[in-house]
Amino acid sequence: MKEFKRYLVTAALPYSNGPVHIGHLAGVYVPADIYVRYLRLRKKDVLYICGSDEHGVPITLRAKKEGKTPQQVVDYYHSMNKKAFSDFGISFDIYSRTTSKTHYETASEFFKTLYQKNEFLEQDSEQLFDEKANQFIADRYVTGTCPHCGYEKAYGDQCEKCGTSLSGTDLINPVSVFSGTKPIVKSTKHWYLPLDKYSDFIENWVTKEHKDDWRQNVVQQVSSWIKMGLRPRAVTRDLDWGVPVPVEGAEGKVLYVWFDAPIGYISATKELTNDWEKYWKDKDSKLIHFIGKDNIVFHAIIFPVMLKAEGTYILPENVPANSFLNLEDDKISTSRNWAVWLHEYLDDFKDKQDVLRYVLTVNAPENKDNNFTWKDFQNRNNKELVADLGNFINRALVLTKKYFEGIIPERNNLTEYDNEVLTQIKIIREKVTESLELYRIREAQYFAMDLARLGNKYFADTEPWKLAKTDIESVKTILNIGLQIVANLGLLMEPFLPFTAKKIRQMVKYQGDIEWDYIGNTNLLISGVQLDKPELLFEQITDEMIDLQLEKLNKTKLENQNEEKQKIPLKNNIDYEDFQKLDIRIATVLEAEKVPKTKKLLKLKVDTGLDQRTVVAGIAEHYKPEEIIGKKITMLANLEPRKIRGIISEGMLLMAENLNENLSFLTPDKDVDNGSCIS
Ligand code: 2FM
Ligand code: ZN
Repeated sequence: MKEFKRYLVTAALPYSNGPVHIGHLAGVYVPADIYVRYLRLRKKDVLYICGSDEHGVPITLRAKKEGKTPQQVVDYYHSMNKKAFSDFGISFDIYSRTTSKTHYETASEFFKTLYQKNEFLEQDSEQLFDEKANQFIADRYVTGTCPHCGYEKAYGDQCEKCGTSLSGTDLINPVSVFSGTKPIVKSTKHWYLPLDKYSDFIENWVTKEHKDDWRQNVVQQVSSWIKMGLRPRAVTRDLDWGVPVPVEGAEGKVLYVWFDAPIGYISATKELTNDWEKYWKDKDSKLIHFIGKDNIVFHAIIFPVMLKAEGTYILPENVPANSFLNLEDDKISTSRNWAVWLHEYLDDFKDKQDVLRYVLTVNAPENKDNNFTWKDFQNRNNKELVADLGNFINRALVLTKKYFEGIIPERNNLTEYDNEVLTQIKIIREKVTESLELYRIREAQYFAMDLARLGNKYFADTEPWKLAKTDIESVKTILNIGLQIVANLGLLMEPFLPFTAKKIRQMVKYQGDIEWDYIGNTNLLISGVQLDKPELLFEQITDEMIDLQLEKLNKTKLENQNEEKQKIPLKNNIDYEDFQKLDIRIATVLEAEKVPKTKKLLKLKVDTGLDQRTVVAGIAEHYKPEEIIGKKITMLANLEPRKIRGIISEGMLLMAENLNENLSFLTPDKDVDNGSCIS
């Protein structure tokens, strides 16, 4: 295996259009953090890069929804997410943002270099245009039916059901997200990255060179894209939020968010160090992109093509892509509020960052989607962190306190078993190392917990609490070994449970360096050192605490169901001529009475301004006759008269109605004459 001089680890830049949740942590930031912390312990030269992705449709849509500017939206979520990551010990060397000055300059320069190298195709093409909103709509601004699988809510850049990459004009029955109208097709100029030209390069690099060392989901996705045939991809958009396209004739156009976002990794490195080129351009640097599976194509095809076309950059050595984490068997969703938000978690589980890190790593969706449940969270905490890790450490400290007043005892003659246990520490370190080197983070944590299990078993087998009555010298040895294991846990757990590892080191007064290579050393602690009063590292999570979380989710579920109910699907479009046929007028109710032997019907006499007529309406369950006499209403006046329960009804009242069957009259907000037309 090639030895690299330095490492550049990136974690996908999250959009700053909402708070980060457990899916983010499990998919990208915790695994990358574990890997980076491990490298740091190995004294490697490593940079861990991340920041907010602040362009793109999700941000402008949220701004529109909240009546804010995109800048206000990204400012808010950038600081919120930066804090959340830091609260969870995600140890980025920099958390930058793509609205920074350096980023605008870097992304523009990058584009200009490719432009000057004639790498782009400049093409007029037909794009969807929303006439009502007076703007082009691409990507997530347009939805419609996927031409490949028939999914009706596919986006203009991708079908989330079958994963096919699309452009807006591919969609069947496209609808603008802005106005809900059907867009027209209009010509506009854009710059295209000719992915097709790089097809062989990508194929060789990913599906041959990295066939065995990259995760299979990544290799397979890339190879299926290649099979479908790579096409030139537009890297500019007609929008006003983004990095302006820095060439003449591109007024009103910005870089496509997926062109500028990965360049954000470079900009952030530049902001961090003047030495940034060493990390990005020297063949002895190892670049690793931690991402979620929805980002594979951008990190394993498009960005590498950009880097290759530019010519002076290295390519990633690996792109570990995780699948998705579900929450209580349902897809995590920001818009449906189906998530555990990091800032809220800390409100309810103060100082329990490591518990979440641990559970998310145990359930990391490395090779397939996985599920987070609060019950599992509780079990893992109570059975693994409290009973395995916490209990072992506590035992070692409490017994030391009990028999030796908290002073680390000396080790005497070692039995074969003692030696075997001490040898195991290094073996465990090697297993953890191997898994981490292969980005098998979940397995690595499992092996790390073996050290706590080893300690527990050692105490259970040697029973120092019994031996204390007869052989205190052996107890000294056992507790010395136990405490050496504790100190080793203080190092081994550093990547996984950084808050806990620090506490462990403090508990045993570990003074040495925090180095990976020290794990396995059986003399991390010196005898004779006085330890402090033992404290518990983890506490039980009770049923009440879990029920509270489940109630929260149930509430969200109910709110979502209600919201769903209120959405009545849009009917098919009609022509203006059809609309003009309707004669809708303002009228006043003169008389009202119940239609005998019916529950729902009222018979009304109304003044339409032209005549007085009878209308039968199904509103008796919502209005009493006396309530509506004198009320101004809206009615369809030219509906063919119909006989209802023997009464000729000469028109129809227009009412607002939702799926909860709440009815309301459409009463004008000013005093208008009877007979006024609605047009
Ligand atoms: O999927 C996402 O959340 C994107 N914002 C990830 C961008 S990664 C990189 F390219 F910046
Ligand atoms: Zn599809």
